[in-house]
Amino acid sequence: MQLVLEEVGYAYGDLPVLDKISFSVAEGETAALIGPSGCGKSTLLNLVGGLLQQQRGRIASHGAPPPGCLNPFTFVFQDFALLPWRSVAGNVALALEHHRLSRAERDGRVAEVLKLCGLADFADALPKQLSGGMRQRVGIARAIAVKPAVLLMDEPLSALDAQTRELLMEDLVSIWGRERTTTLYVTHNLAEAVRLADHVVVLSRRPGRLKKIVGINIPVSERSKPEHAAELQNLHDELWTLIKAEAQVADREMLDV
Ligand SMILES: Nc1ncnc2c1ncn2[C@@H]1O[C@H](COP(=O)(O)OP(=O)(O)OP(=O)(O)O)[C@@H](O)[C@H]1O
Ligand SMILES: [Mg+2]
Repeated sequence: MQLVLEEVGYAYGDLPVLDKISFSVAEGETAALIGPSGCGKSTLLNLVGGLLQQQRGRIASHGAPPPGCLNPFTFVFQDFALLPWRSVAGNVALALEHHRLSRAERDGRVAEVLKLCGLADFADALPKQLSGGMRQRVGIARAIAVKPAVLLMDEPLSALDAQTRELLMEDLVSIWGRERTTTLYVTHNLAEAVRLADHVVVLSRRPGRLKKIVGINIPVSERSKPEHAAELQNLHDELWTLIKAEAQVADREMLDV
């Protein structure tokens, strides 16, 4: 599905958090959302996912959800949110339990996403037996098991060390290559944005306003090739220049509180 945001605004009481945010994400594309801490990124994701009620502007989705979609807007959070007493397969099945699926369909979907996420050999393991990277693979498997139309990812790799993050980025690229799910991806990590996004939406400090939309024209599946390294580094530098000043001011404001 295509996602279109028009002049979206939001305030918590009298604290304005988002102001006139407009951008769109085409079907199958990934938009990264970056901006200083507290500028309203998670708020925007929650508005799109319907966890918060819209106040100003419009958020629309166009097109049909993918076949078999059980939950059009599906979140993946930083902290994995797995049930510790359930196995890997049990945690993934959880997302399917409130839907009308036969046992065979459910087991089939669980097996399929576990395989896609490199977890086939860990179906019976408990979360505590897994590394952080594997736990987040479970979180991702659980999200894609419902065949979402739009994936809403809020700093999904932030809790992981740098090497694990690299591995999961490669996994995400291959998952997206197969599933082509429209994705909104919040991150503080510019390398993630540059590696994964078709567009990077840069927000200003609070109240978050649209500062710039930076398009990345290199196909996501080709970004690890050395011939693109210089161009991607330039994009990284451009993004850093854009958010550096905002981040510095936001930082000082936080210290003043
Ligand atoms: N439920 C709430 N009630 C009041 N204020 C809130 C609430 N949730 C968030 N805020 C405030 O709204 C602002 C935006 O919060 P939000 O979590 O959307 O920012 P963010 O860009 O995701 O930040 P971070 O990068 O730190 O995750 C912050 O100043 C935050 O303190
Ligand atoms: Mg946040």
